[in-house]
Amino acid sequence: MGEARTQLDTILSRYPTKQAALLPALWMLQDARGWVSDKGIEEIAALLAITPAYIKGVVSFYTMYHQHPVGRHFIQVCTTTPCNVCGAEDVVKSFLEHTGCGDLGLTSADGRFTVIEVECLGACGFATPVMINNDFIESVTPESVPRILAELK
Ligand code: FES
Repeated sequence: MGEARTQLDTILSRYPTKQAALLPALWMLQDARGWVSDKGIEEIAALLAITPAYIKGVVSFYTMYHQHPVGRHFIQVCTTTPCNVCGAEDVVKSFLEHTGCGDLGLTSADGRFTVIEVECLGACGFATPVMINNDFIESVTPESVPRILAELK
């Protein structure tokens, strides 16, 4: 907890109240453990003097927080209408096929990948945009998916 505690103290120093630091504290937790578990929520609750129920409400509101374990590479594909008409569904199918995830929201047997559909990523002119963890990739096609996956460790 030493390094995490130092990171949390740095976060806390930037906010006027402990509660205001909740979102970055949760982000830090997810970064370290891959998802936000009930145990993690209790730890953050104790550190920030907020109830676990309140934090659970925040975690379930924001889709950026994972409420269950996901693959090491979390793949989000925009399938909102502008991207959809440009073939986003085929990009999703290609990711599902080449990752071995089987279906949306499932994790591949090797634990490497989880693929989900998301709403507009704000790059409608560059269909199909995809986020893999914190990396943003524009103009993804079904054909470019194998190359993109091969570049991931
Ligand atoms: S609709 Fe896909 S990025 Fe906006």
